[in-house]
Amino acid sequence: MDDIVVGPLDLAARVDDALAVQALAFGLTADEIGVRRHIVLRHLTSPGARALGATTPGGRLVGFVYGMPNDRGHWWSGVVEPYLRATGTDGWLDNAFVITELHVHPDFQKRRIGRNLITALTSSANEPRSILSAIDTESPARALYRTLGYRDLARPVHFPSAPSPYVVMGAPLPLLG
Ligand SMILES: CC(C)(COP(=O)(O)OP(=O)(O)OC[C@H]1O[C@@H](n2cnc3c(N)ncnc32)[C@H](O)[C@@H]1OP(=O)(O)O)[C@@H](O)C(=O)NCCC(=O)NCCS
Repeated sequence: MDDIVVGPLDLAARVDDALAVQALAFGLTADEIGVRRHIVLRHLTSPGARALGATTPGGRLVGFVYGMPNDRGHWWSGVVEPYLRATGTDGWLDNAFVITELHVHPDFQKRRIGRNLITALTSSANEPRSILSAIDTESPARALYRTLGYRDLARPVHFPSAPSPYVVMGAPLPLLG
């Protein structure tokens, strides 16, 4: 982490900086950035939505995480619910804090920034568990989530218009250290 500070992020104000990080880390086209921009700003109006950022001493945003308490009425929850029901794990949708996005700029990865972001965000959650979806491959994200205690709840999960299958993972809170 060195000189990188993890702290509160006004994500609505810095949505373009955050999406620039996500575009490099995750790969987003210009069109997708526009769509994500609307989605992020809408998510931030959800009760309990919170974000943290990782910044350099000069204030450059190099990573961010955000999430919110799950609401079964939300689009994401509605898509994953039948998959979790099929594996008998849909109880995870209640009293759970959802990690919606986690991204670290490629030049700053593997410095424990991602781990610190997700651990810090969930440490102030009131819920006893956390859930998220990730692309269903053995990615750095999946490895990170496993070390934090997340396990697979359902896979493969198909989101409308997403070309890749996803996995839904869940972990008890607090996350493993
Ligand atoms: C996932 C991501 C946020 C991790 O951020 P990071 O700051 O590089 O991760 P950390 O340095 O905190 O790594 C924590 C753990 O993750 C795992 N990990 C991280 N990078 C890894 C890699 N390249 N290969 C394998 N495991 C890796 C390790 O278990 C690591 O533990 P360690 O520090 O004890 O070795 C980052 O790789 C990223 O932005 N990826 C692209 C976007 C993405 O996939 N986001 C998640 C969408 S679901």
